[in-house]
Amino acid sequence: MNVPNHIAIILDGNGRWAKAKGMPRSYGHVKGCANLETICDDMKELGVKYLTVYAFSTENWKRSREEVDGLMKLFRNYLKKCIRISEKNKMRVKVIGDIRAFDQDIQDKIRELEEFSKDYTELHFQIALNYGSRDEIVRGVRRLAQDAVDGKLDPQKIDEKVFESYLDTAGIPDPDLMIRTSGELRLSNYLLWQMAYTEFYFTEVPWPDFNKEELIKAIEKYNERDRRFGGVKEEKQNV
Ligand code: IPE
Ligand code: IPE
Ligand code: MG
Repeated sequence: MNVPNHIAIILDGNGRWAKAKGMPRSYGHVKGCANLETICDDMKELGVKYLTVYAFSTENWKRSREEVDGLMKLFRNYLKKCIRISEKNKMRVKVIGDIRAFDQDIQDKIRELEEFSKDYTELHFQIALNYGSRDEIVRGVRRLAQDAVDGKLDPQKIDEKVFESYLDTAGIPDPDLMIRTSGELRLSNYLLWQMAYTEFYFTEVPWPDFNKEELIKAIEKYNERDRRFGGVKEEKQNV
């Protein structure tokens, strides 16, 4: 089995999963958060090198105050716990998104986790928090324009590589496979630039039930794909 180098996940369906059990949405988020640790273990075991998960979008602030507060509490706990998980898996953790929107203590925990794990290379784990692809691009363009105004960047030298270096994902290879759980068939503002040639896999399974077996199913489907990148079949390019 050819294992994708980078898998991106839209972990969706926590609320519906909980509702189906007659439980509050927050219960789904707790279970969904616990599932993150398991999936990191599975990815490492399978040999996936990069994993990027969508945990909170720039649009998710529109949810009820109660739900947003609950999620912030979960992030606080998770970020603390993640130090141990990163140590266990030799996993480097980075947060993508505009973290300035979070309370100072959350920002500090993020920086602490990133600093703690910065030399690990077994698995590169990106968590998208207050992330929106359009917001990421606009923030990047703002910095890029400022560098041009300051004379640090020649506009004529701006190409795709230079532009990418201004994104939150600078230095991270593009995803090979994107998995969205829970049945919705959209990107919801996730990695729009980075997923220009990514293979998509959608499953009805809600995030709290997504496990190693489901992950292997997704990778198997990915293996049946004929990846082209606009050219001829990959195998032929290597002849
Ligand atoms: C995904 O589950 C987690 C977050 C967006 C924080 P949802 O909360 O979107 O669950 P559904 O889609 O409403 O079931
Ligand atoms: C996408 O899920 C964002 C995350 C998983 C964090 P949503 O549930 O927020 O997306 P929509 O509203 O269904 O598009
Ligand atoms: Mg959802």
